Amino acid sequence: MHRLLERQIKRHLGDHATLPPELAAFIAAVDEAYGSADADRLLIERSLDLMSKELTEANAGLRKELAERKLTELALHQEKEEQRVLIRKLEDVHSQLLQSEKMASIGQLAAGVAHEINNPIGYVYSNLGTLEKYVQDAFSMIELYEQAESAIAEPEVRSRLQQARKKLDIEFLKADLRALMVESKDGITRVKKIVQNLKDFSHADDSDEWSLSDLRNGLESTLSIVNNEIKYKAEVVKEYARIPEVECLPSQLNQVFMNLLVNAAHAIKEHGTITIRTGVEGSEVWVDIADTGQGIPPENMQKIFDPFFTTKPVGKGTGLGLSLSYGIVQKHRGRMEVHSEVGKGSAFRVWLPVKHSQ
Ligand SMILES: Nc1ncnc2c1ncn2[C@@H]1O[C@H](COP(=O)(O)OP(=O)(O)OP(=O)(O)O)[C@@H](O)[C@H]1O
Ligand SMILES: [Mg+2]
Repeated sequence: MHRLLERQIKRHLGDHATLPPELAAFIAAVDEAYGSADADRLLIERSLDLMSKELTEANAGLRKELAERKLTELALHQEKEEQRVLIRKLEDVHSQLLQSEKMASIGQLAAGVAHEINNPIGYVYSNLGTLEKYVQDAFSMIELYEQAESAIAEPEVRSRLQQARKKLDIEFLKADLRALMVESKDGITRVKKIVQNLKDFSHADDSDEWSLSDLRNGLESTLSIVNNEIKYKAEVVKEYARIPEVECLPSQLNQVFMNLLVNAAHAIKEHGTITIRTGVEGSEVWVDIADTGQGIPPENMQKIFDPFFTTKPVGKGTGLGLSLSYGIVQKHRGRMEVHSEVGKGSAFRVWLPVKHSQ
């Protein structure tokens, strides 16, 4: 008999043996019901166990799959990031190539023009010197004639001489010729200086040579190249401190200065000031180019060194100036810093190690 039934009988009906025989069939039926309920429960328990086992297994499988998927995702993400960096690098190199090609051809052009102009300017300059001497000689001869004038006996000849002197206004001619000579010499000297600057800028002789250079000379020659873009826009203030010569690629640094100067001029809407400073700190030299222009909005700060980033109208700016400059400064193991305030102006500082030490 089922032990639960046995316990119930004992509790409610007393000793098993004293039960009336007519209850025997009923007790047997209840006992059977108890037995079959037990069997059913066991069955349910077993199938529940089985189901729970299956669920745990499925869960573990899902978890494993999820982890694998996450790993794959991570790997994909990494790969994408690497590709992005690679593309960015390629773009940088490409645009630097473009820009340096452009600069190289400008340099070539400058060198060519400088070479072509150099000769004629040379002889015009030297001829002017000779001409000045000849004119002086001719004038001293005229003076002698003037002195001899009173000694001329023939009154008609004398009056013709006096008339001619009056008509030609020899006194004015003498004074003006001197002024003309001074002006012409000054003009030619200026052209000579421009030619020299073009030569310095293009550095045709030391195109890609590391050499020791005083950056102030580079700044000066670059300034005279971009003078046209600057002179109507800004007053240029120079605060050059003494700096040691820097081991550098001078023509490339000139490109950096040119880009910074032109950007500064472009940032000035009406009229302003561009301040150029130099200084030295420890083993580094710095060059500051600051303007009182429109400034750079904070949201553009991260982008200004990106190739092709420009706020200038289509066709006006390529957006390569700063990225090229950045590349060149990096090649020198230097760095660039920018401070800017909208409406007040911007200051770019180029830091360069004095020794390049490869
Ligand atoms: N001094 C500055 N003041 C204000 N904004 C500047 C200054 N310098 C650079 N910028 C900003 O950075 C952008 C990128 O400059 P970058 O020299 O690279 O290109 P660009 O001057 O636009 O074109 P490009 O130099 O090729 O003619 C400029 O369009 C401008 O918005
Ligand atoms: Mg620019």
